[in-house]
Amino acid sequence: MRKTLVAGNWKLNGSSELNRGLIAGITAGLGAASGGEVMVCPPYVYLAAVAAQLAGTDVLLGAQDVAAEDGGAFTGEVSAVMLADIGCSHTLIGHSERRTRYGDSDEVVAAKFRVAQAAGVKPVLCIGETLEERESGVTMEVIGRQLGAVVDAAGVGAFAAAIVAYEPVWAIGTGRTATPDQAQEVHRHIRSIIAGADAKIGAELQILYGGSVKGANAAELFALEDIDGGLIGGASLDVAEFLAICKAAAGT
Ligand code: PGA
Repeated sequence: MRKTLVAGNWKLNGSSELNRGLIAGITAGLGAASGGEVMVCPPYVYLAAVAAQLAGTDVLLGAQDVAAEDGGAFTGEVSAVMLADIGCSHTLIGHSERRTRYGDSDEVVAAKFRVAQAAGVKPVLCIGETLEERESGVTMEVIGRQLGAVVDAAGVGAFAAAIVAYEPVWAIGTGRTATPDQAQEVHRHIRSIIAGADAKIGAELQILYGGSVKGANAAELFALEDIDGGLIGGASLDVAEFLAICKAAAGT
């Protein structure tokens, strides 16, 4: 059976003080009651400090992005080897904000996916269609292209050690969540693409939903057959909301 994962993507938010409060609240609130996996993804500069705060807890640590290169003259970048070195087990790759604002093409995303895996950092590959793409009926095509770019570059076997997050761009930070039917339809499609190449890897792949998940809608989404947890933006900065989402995931 697949485990559920709730991952908090803090984006460009936080401070040393705020982070301490968030981590203290999350770890205290989860207690022994947590049935699923929980992860936080703070900005790079706070990763080491948060790693220290998380020591001795089951909460996982992820980065929000990673360099496509291993090292060298790449000013401003952070490598996957460095992430592993300071205790990061996961990294988001290809978040729509990276794709649209920082030019992460499908090829760059595939390169990042490969370097992360090579360093032992599990990629959480984010894919999703824009509103325009959904309205023009090409959602499945877009999903197929984004996923296919990584399958072609890394091989389907790589998905035995990866996570996929489906995040419809129109649902991110908008308060507009995909309906359970819309989400399940795309999740099933993602799983069928991977399962078509390797049935076992497809069946075991964790697929998260992201886009305006809150305590109030989490349980309904996580109960769906092909949804294995969530990638949470805004609500991950609020301890009570985030804990409510973690509890919803633990209950499925
Ligand atoms: P949101 O963000 O929960 O604020 O919609 C999700 C994400 O971008 O990962």
